[in-house]
Amino acid sequence: MRYFSRDARSPAGATLSGVTDAWLSDTRSSYDTDASGYAEKVRGLLGESPYLRASLALFAELVQGAGGGQVADIGCGPGYVTGHLHDAGVDVFGIDLSAEMIAIARRDYPGLRFEVGTMTDLDLADDSLAGIIAFWSVIHVPDHVVPRVFEQFRRVLRRQGLLLVGFHVGDETRHTSEGYTGQPIHVDTHHRRPSKVADWLRDAGFTIDAELVMRPDEDVPGAIIFARTDA
Ligand SMILES: C[S@@+](CC[C@H](N)C(=O)[O-])C[C@H]1O[C@@H](n2cnc3c(N)ncnc32)[C@H](O)[C@@H]1O
Repeated sequence: MRYFSRDARSPAGATLSGVTDAWLSDTRSSYDTDASGYAEKVRGLLGESPYLRASLALFAELVQGAGGGQVADIGCGPGYVTGHLHDAGVDVFGIDLSAEMIAIARRDYPGLRFEVGTMTDLDLADDSLAGIIAFWSVIHVPDHVVPRVFEQFRRVLRRQGLLLVGFHVGDETRHTSEGYTGQPIHVDTHHRRPSKVADWLRDAGFTIDAELVMRPDEDVPGAIIFARTDA
């Protein structure tokens, strides 16, 4: 599983500190450009990934066990994880930076809700969600912004809210300059150690319940962290 992507056209400049961030614009424009290529690349991915399916099934069970409620799939891309969770009985909607991704998600899952937005500035009320899933989307957020993103996640989750974060494991940042459809893109992907992500989550007020590392002997392993807000 290789995750990245690229293109431009969505909500005008989600900003931090009132200044448009180049990394955010580049990520948005890259995924707008490569949305169809990415959607094609990940088609059927869950069918080939028992550990992803098991993680999603466990997440759905935990959300329902905690009384249910709304879940946001943040950085939902073409929406197949959102659709999978919906089929598992979760009240879920998707948010993505890329308007082209959201257009594909709405086309492929017309009964579900998808909105353009950014995890750096969530347009959601405090304590409004039972769960958040962020699968391979925080990978595009630079280190200095990750604490703010996790604070946003904490703010919108209710007590005992559940968070599932998936990411590439490693220490490097890779730049991608060509999308799956061969068009030029400009997006950075940050690979991280689970301990580093877990420490950021603890600093934002989360408790870590579990960490799963997949394909640890490969060039780019994947990791999923299960976390929750306080009781
Ligand atoms: C590698 S794809 C993952 C998509 C999907 N979650 C999956 O597992 O296939 C990364 C997605 O995160 C989105 N994304 C990147 N930065 C974002 C941000 N700041 N806010 C919301 N979505 C973002 C991208 O537009 C893209 O659709």
